[in-house]
Amino acid sequence: MTKINVLYTSTEGNTKSFIEKLQVIAEKEGDVFEARVIGDETDYANETEPYVAIVPTYLNGGTGTGPEVTEIFTNALGEYIEFGRNQHYLKGVIGSGNRNFNVQFNLTAIRYAKKFNVPMVFAYELRGSKFDAEKAYALIRPLFGE
Ligand SMILES: Cc1cc2nc3c(=O)[nH]c(=O)nc-3n(C[C@H](O)[C@H](O)[C@H](O)COP(=O)(O)O)c2cc1C
Repeated sequence: MTKINVLYTSTEGNTKSFIEKLQVIAEKEGDVFEARVIGDETDYANETEPYVAIVPTYLNGGTGTGPEVTEIFTNALGEYIEFGRNQHYLKGVIGSGNRNFNVQFNLTAIRYAKKFNVPMVFAYELRGSKFDAEKAYALIRPLFGE
């Protein structure tokens, strides 16, 4: 039995749908899966266990990948990770987006991984498929020991 903790954000529900796919897999595996949404209304708290962050991409300010392109809607999750020692417990990032955004596909997760110095474990589009969830699950499970 492995305990998997996930912090995520979901503005339009796609990431939430992916989380639900992971939850189904966890139940089959007999693992404990705890996913918490982090939004603007979430109070800061001190994480005490390892977790992965799952973040979609919402960007403003152009079509490139430079500093003029800024994160929107997902900022609360990044700020939560920065709070206290929460960064210390972050083991990896899973990201999503829409490939129509070309070079900006999945850019927020790529930025989080770089900023927090953890692996960018997996990327998927929109709600992700069941197969995507299985791949992602197999990649994150070892990050929680066993
Ligand atoms: C205003 C807006 C900007 C977006 N910008 C990007 C982007 O820069 N790169 C990308 O890969 N996807 C982008 N997307 C697609 C979202 O990341 C994608 O729809 C994702 O599945 C949304 O997740 P959610 O439903 O959990 O909020 C954008 C979507 C919207 C509505």
